[in-house]
Amino acid sequence: MKKLFMMPGEAARALENLFAYAGKQDINLYGNSGYRSYASQKQVYKERIKKVGKKQADEYVAEPGASEHQTGLAMDVTNKEGAQGRLMLDFGQTREGKWLKANVYRFGFIMRYPKEKESITGYNYESWHIRYVGVKAAKEMFNKNLVLEEYLGEK
Ligand code: DAL
Ligand code: ZN
Repeated sequence: MKKLFMMPGEAARALENLFAYAGKQDINLYGNSGYRSYASQKQVYKERIKKVGKKQADEYVAEPGASEHQTGLAMDVTNKEGAQGRLMLDFGQTREGKWLKANVYRFGFIMRYPKEKESITGYNYESWHIRYVGVKAAKEMFNKNLVLEEYLGEK
């Protein structure tokens, strides 16, 4: 398996456990993009603007300084096809994407940008982006169908 975790200790261990648990159920998950420095977020942001323009870029990519990838607690997850370089906007429709959504909370992660919460998170649906919050918070948010903003009482 590719080792691209690049996350701090606790979150990295949780991710390894998540991937191992998935693997036992024949679900092969890959880390596509984890920790990004300010400079690498800037690069991602600039490249996206070049590709799709600023308006659309802002719907998917945080400005440098504002991405939770810079905290090291976020990971973009993909499957084998995605790991081979295919752009997986439809990851949520795949077997692996569906499994991820149903199981991440067990290991302390949340689906950070769900489809039905776009107006609250301010970002388009991202079926691949998970964020570590710890098991207790993740379970509560999963059971109550809350996104981080709602859980923290911000919205
Ligand atoms: N794709 C998410 C919003 C980020 O760039 O942090
Ligand atoms: Zn992401």
